[in-house]
Amino acid sequence: MRTPLVAGNWKMNGSRESVAGLMQGITAGAGLEGMEMLVCPPFVYIPQVAAAIGEAPVALGGQDLYTEANGAFTGEISGAMLADVGCQYVIIGHSERRALLGESDGKIARKFLAAQENNLIPILCLGETLDERQADSTLQVIGSQFSAVVDVVGIEAFARAVVAYEPVWAIGTGETATPEQAQEVHAALRSMAAKRSAKIAADLRLLYGGSVKAANAAELFSMPDIDGGLIGGASLEANEFLAICRAATV
Ligand code: PGA
Repeated sequence: MRTPLVAGNWKMNGSRESVAGLMQGITAGAGLEGMEMLVCPPFVYIPQVAAAIGEAPVALGGQDLYTEANGAFTGEISGAMLADVGCQYVIIGHSERRALLGESDGKIARKFLAAQENNLIPILCLGETLDERQADSTLQVIGSQFSAVVDVVGIEAFARAVVAYEPVWAIGTGETATPEQAQEVHAALRSMAAKRSAKIAADLRLLYGGSVKAANAAELFSMPDIDGGLIGGASLEANEFLAICRAATV
C-alpha cells in the first residue's frame, strides 16, 4: 500500500512575507486523508516554515544537501543540519542541479547515502531531455540514472526513499507528459526495481514532476504507477497546491 505524496519544490523563490502567506494557506488546508503533503523551501526559510507548520500534518524537506557532515565546505548545507532544523526529506539529483550545477550520478549517489545517514528520506529525481526523448532513448537514460544510484546504495536502501520522474522538457515549460507517457516510464522504473527486489519495487513511491497543476493532476495520479507528484511552479500558490493534494486522495 503506497500512500501518495505531493511535494512542493519551491526552488529559489519566496520572501519572508510570501512564505508566511503561503504557509498560512497550506496549513489551513492540511490534514487530507490518504495522502502525505510535503514542502521543500529554500534553505534560509526552513526554520520559518518549520515554525509555521507547528503540529500541522505537513512534512518538511530540503532541496539539496552536501555529501559531507560538516567542515570546510563554504556555502554548503549538510544532512545533519537539515535534520536538526526539522526536515524529514531532501530532494536530490534535480535536473536543474544536474544541468546547471554539474551534478554527476556519482555525486548524487553519495548525496543519497548522506541523506539516509541523517535519517532523511531522499527524493531521487530522474529525467530525460527532449533530445533524448526524440532519439527514443528515454528508458535507457532513466535506467542508467537509476542504476547508477542503486549500484552504489543497494536496492534495500529504497525502502526509505522516493523516486521522482521529471522529464526535463516538461519542467517549468507548461508542457506536461501525458498520463500514458508518464505511466510508461513509471512502470519501467518499477520493473527495473523489481528485478532487484519485488518487495521494494511494490512499495516504492514514484512521483511524477513537470508542469503538474490542479487541472492535470487527477489524470496523472490516476495512473497505476504514479504515486503523487513533485510540484514546482504550482506549489507556490496555496489553493493550487491544495487542489493538487486533493487530486492525490481519490
Ligand atoms: P514545475 O517543476 O512543476 O514548475 O514544472 C517541477 C520540478 O522541477 O520539480
